[in-house]
Amino acid sequence: MPREINARKKLGVLVSGNGSNLQAIIDQSRSTGYPAEVAVVVSSHSEARALERARAAGIPGYAVERADFASNNDHNGAILDKLKEHGVDLIVLAGYMRLVGSAILDTYRDAVINLHPSLLPSFPGAHAIGDALEAGVKITGITIHFADETYDTGPIIIQEVVPVQQEDTEETLGARVHKVEHRHLPYAVKLWATGRLRIVGRRVNILPKKDRSAGEHAPEDGH
Ligand code: GRF
Repeated sequence: MPREINARKKLGVLVSGNGSNLQAIIDQSRSTGYPAEVAVVVSSHSEARALERARAAGIPGYAVERADFASNNDHNGAILDKLKEHGVDLIVLAGYMRLVGSAILDTYRDAVINLHPSLLPSFPGAHAIGDALEAGVKITGITIHFADETYDTGPIIIQEVVPVQQEDTEETLGARVHKVEHRHLPYAVKLWATGRLRIVGRRVNILPKKDRSAGEHAPEDGH
């Protein structure tokens, strides 16, 4: 049966830990008119709190651990099967600590987005917040970008600055960074789900919102 034209896009959220960003998407997806819903959560760790969040929200959640597979390819293949099984349109890497691999990227071309707690290309990797503090930068932030074959590269969709305060620790700065992530990730998903992202080389253009009544472009009204 053909999909309804205005059907909500199905999200597959890949996680490895706490899942506060998963929660932000789940919460937003419950608001009227939000164009996407979480169809499945896949975690690289069976102990991840994110799986409890999925369970609490009534969303199917699976632990697919690397240790249970002979190779990265097999592991990614098993994840891909779960995503397909649940009819996923867009993959969101929300604190997912592994590479998704070419099989997933080829199947979900321009439909895998990642979240990173720094202003890329500064401070890629798993310790971005600590690395920013150590480097003594006065501003850091968040980046949401399309994923590619390597960590923390790929065309940038959204960045937002978070100022570093003199007395900051990893915890205090991390808490402010996460707050900003929780605001922007659901928005980036919304932009994708409403067809407003265009990749042009390394750049991502955000198309203006369509004013349905006039058939013209309406001015941006923020998130
Ligand atoms: C976020 O800071 C994200 O940028 C990074 O991992 C963290 C995940 O946090 N990739 P949570 O699991 O969503 O709470």
